[in-house]
Amino acid sequence: MKIGITGASGMLGTELISHLSKSHQIIATSRTKSVEGRHISWSCFDLTEPASLSGWLENSKPDLVIHCAAIVNVEFCEENFDLASSLHVETTQVISDYLNRNGGRLIYISPIQFLTVKRKGPIQRLISLTQQTFMHRLNLLVKLL
Ligand SMILES: NC(=O)c1ccc[n+]([C@@H]2O[C@H](COP(=O)([O-])OP(=O)(O)OC[C@H]3O[C@@H](n4cnc5c(N)ncnc54)[C@H](OP(=O)(O)O)[C@@H]3O)[C@@H](O)[C@H]2O)c1
Repeated sequence: MKIGITGASGMLGTELISHLSKSHQIIATSRTKSVEGRHISWSCFDLTEPASLSGWLENSKPDLVIHCAAIVNVEFCEENFDLASSLHVETTQVISDYLNRNGGRLIYISPIQFLTVKRKGPIQRLISLTQQTFMHRLNLLVKLL
């Protein structure tokens, strides 16, 4: 299977690549590279650029995308709401739209649980937007590994 992994240089992405590249072709993306290997190909770009993201999807044609890219610093998300929204909401919409059109599957590693803990203000707006976009409006299947 051809598996796209976003956030591939991160803690979770690196582990996933190490395990899944033993039996699958991995199309990895983040702004910087991590693990390299025979079944791993990298594209480094900023996911919040929709044209780059769409180009990556169209060119690599993944059967499955494991979307791990995230900003895990909650304070940073609060101070940079538009960026956090762009990375957590809009990228997932672009990926899910592509996969819906092409019969692929999405595993989204949602930061919602992490962001929800005792948060108010901008982060609540982000969570609400995320939930509407992913779970209600698109009826997206959310699976956790
Ligand atoms: N690690 C854990 O134990 C754990 C546990 C439970 C849930 N989670 C969830 O799993 C997800 C990933 O966590 P993690 O620990 O792997 O985080 P992490 O190590 O901080 O990795 C985040 C990844 O996102 C990428 N990224 C961030 N902004 C980007 C952008 N604008 N364009 C492209 N890539 C971007 C980073 O790559 P570059 O900076 O190279 O672009 C990096 O590869 C999060 O939602 C987290 O809440 C993690």
